[in-house]
Amino acid sequence: MAGHVQKSLQGACVWVTGASSGIGKALVGQLVAAGNFVIVSGRNKDALCKLATQFGGKVKPLVFDVSCADSMTSVASQLANITDYLDCVIACAGVCEYVDDLDFDSKLYERVFETNFLGVIRTLELAKPLLDKSKTAPQFVAVGSLSSVLPFPRAQAYGAAKAALEYFVKVARIDLSHQRLDVSLVRPGFVATALTSNNDFSMPFLLTPDAAAKRIIDGVRKRKAIIDFPRRLSWPLRFLGLFDGLWVRFVGPHLTRMKTNTKSV
Ligand SMILES: NC(=O)c1ccc[n+]([C@@H]2O[C@H](COP(=O)([O-])OP(=O)(O)OC[C@H]3O[C@@H](n4cnc5c(N)ncnc54)[C@H](OP(=O)(O)O)[C@@H]3O)[C@@H](O)[C@H]2O)c1
Repeated sequence: MAGHVQKSLQGACVWVTGASSGIGKALVGQLVAAGNFVIVSGRNKDALCKLATQFGGKVKPLVFDVSCADSMTSVASQLANITDYLDCVIACAGVCEYVDDLDFDSKLYERVFETNFLGVIRTLELAKPLLDKSKTAPQFVAVGSLSSVLPFPRAQAYGAAKAALEYFVKVARIDLSHQRLDVSLVRPGFVATALTSNNDFSMPFLLTPDAAAKRIIDGVRKRKAIIDFPRRLSWPLRFLGLFDGLWVRFVGPHLTRMKTNTKSV
């Protein structure tokens, strides 16, 4: 229900995917500190159990590989054993693979879409019946990326999956506009996590995971449709996004690494 003001992520039951590291892990710490019960998911069981040990009864691990359609029934029953309702879900699980040449490897695209797009849909599929049982106005929050605002070289797979996610979230927000469930999209700029640790280009306005998590929680509390940050990066990108034809024609060619055709004929 857009515009409804909830009591703001306190004493809520929250499910965070991608909780074993980076932004998701930082979210867990801040959500617990605010008095929430948090179900933490990822593939790395040890990392999830460590969080559960660190936060005692406030955190419950649930191993969930979002790219694995076959695990849905089992994850649904494990989730039902932990809780019979959810107030908020933050679908943060994601991977990044860059495309380094145009010798297309469709498997790469499949991997990225399985996690970054279908993984979020699977999370919503599992969460929806429990969100419907929330006694507050429930929220589903998908973590996208500012890369969906403009086409960036090498981000064909990652950016396309995040753009698909953005489209999905916007339509879901329309379709659910007369229901209690609010759907939001987070579009972070650069955050210093494992996902960006191998980036060999400059990452302007790089944030810590804690700073990113704080901005996400603030945005979720305000029930914002789009949670973009940092503003000093998102505003210029959004402005440039108005002229993406010019970006593709004049700016992109200076950014791409594929300047010469090195293939033999
Ligand atoms: N860092 C940035 O600059 C940046 C910028 C924009 C958007 N984002 C987005 O922010 C989100 C979090 O990324 P991060 O930067 O915090 O990276 P990260 O530290 O690498 O965390 C990624 C998380 O996703 C989980 N994950 C990956 N594949 C999974 C799968 N198949 N099933 C379940 N969980 C999976 C990982 O857990 P396991 O390994 O335990 O499965 C891990 O907890 C991602 O969606 C990313 O696209 C990040």
